[in-house]
Amino acid sequence: MKHPIIIGLQYGDEGKGKITDTLAKQADWVIRFNGGNNAGHTLWLGGKKIVTHAVPSGVRYSHAKNFIGPGCVVDPVALKKEIDELISHGVDLSPEKFKVDFRAHVTLPIHLALDSGREGGAQGIGTTKRGIGPTYTTKTDRVGIRVGEVVEGKAFDKVRFLCQNYNSILKAAGLPESSESQNLAALESASDIFKKYISTDPTPFFDVAKTKKCLLEGAQGIMLDLDHGSYPFVTSSSTLPAYAAVGAPFPLRNLGHVIGVAKAYVTRVGLGPFDTELKNEIGERIRARGAEFGATTGRPRRIGWINVDELRLAVRLADCNHIALTKGDILAGEPKVFAQMNGKLVAFEGWEKCAVEQNGKKVLTPAFEKFVSALEEFSGASISVVGTGQDREDIVWRKEVSWW
Ligand code: GDP
Ligand code: IMO
Ligand code: MG
Repeated sequence: MKHPIIIGLQYGDEGKGKITDTLAKQADWVIRFNGGNNAGHTLWLGGKKIVTHAVPSGVRYSHAKNFIGPGCVVDPVALKKEIDELISHGVDLSPEKFKVDFRAHVTLPIHLALDSGREGGAQGIGTTKRGIGPTYTTKTDRVGIRVGEVVEGKAFDKVRFLCQNYNSILKAAGLPESSESQNLAALESASDIFKKYISTDPTPFFDVAKTKKCLLEGAQGIMLDLDHGSYPFVTSSSTLPAYAAVGAPFPLRNLGHVIGVAKAYVTRVGLGPFDTELKNEIGERIRARGAEFGATTGRPRRIGWINVDELRLAVRLADCNHIALTKGDILAGEPKVFAQMNGKLVAFEGWEKCAVEQNGKKVLTPAFEKFVSALEEFSGASISVVGTGQDREDIVWRKEVSWW
């Protein structure tokens, strides 16, 4: 059996949560393989909103199990808060339903202090300040702390070492340090939560992939990829679908469709280049209509026309065969909609609605369909799914695809 991967094709916040939630209806497992609680994935159902951060977006179905892979980083304090919040929404997060891999790296207060410290200075790039970069730094520096070590009570000396080493950097820069006692206390409470959810199987999906339907849920987007994005204005993990084989870890030959999620326009939070940015009333209108404020930090998202040159590059980098295009409904009412192709802004006639009912089936309106077809042709991937509103049900299946 082959299993689909969902990733973002732009700068994050494309609507991966919604598409994951929709496909999770058929899935036995939903697996996160990169990033941490820098992600904010929004799921709407019947007017009720849930936002997932570190936890995968399969939580709204009672049958689906959710897994945080070793390619992710986990902040135990934030995870506890997220779990409590999800439980308050009626989500079942019993240990049978949710697991965290023993190799995932742990974010502690020292990582948060390092992230915030850097962001306060000239080298800030507008991170989410969730300690993501520093946690991947201590991982690659081979002094990081893994979930398994926390559970085994073997991390105390390492935490002392981390504090001594990295506080010296903060001290030299005149920035607030993170006390050893604060980090040791965080470790103590981390142990309780990780004991409950730890998975110690080194190949958790090797056999599972033969019989159970898995859905791999990426975080961030291709243009934020550490190697291939707009470096240095990127996140600190790989956002490419290929990383699912490493960060889940998932058997490589069982990976199937790559579903890249893209917005009908572009948003970006944080600093970095943005060719098609709209710093005018059109941008403000789209931000207001699309509620474009960060699901994690609440920051206003920068808005611009869709950049199909970048989309095409992202499709190639991701080897993406299907696009899920979201938020065309937010552009409804704009007299003209633009898309950058071959370095030029190309104008399209606007649409009043993006979808209508026809013979009991939801189809795209002609003006919107023209826009979608042009994007499809230029980007090189089939636009098979189209979001027409925020709810799980607001979707047009433009092509018939067996996802598994
Ligand atoms: P993610 O990080 O990729 O999961 O995306 P976010 O959840 O951060 O941001 C996407 C926002 O757009 C969320 O508020 C979604 O509920 C919403 N959304 C997703 N698809 C659509 C769509 O097709 N139309 C509308 N109006 N909203 C959508
Ligand atoms: P989802 O999964 C949008 C951005 C930050 C910053 C850069 C580095 O919801 O799409 P980091 O905290 O990762 O070190 O920040 O990456 N960023 C995101 N932008 N959506 C996200 O996640 C993001 N995760 C990180 O704004 O520019
Ligand atoms: Mg988001």
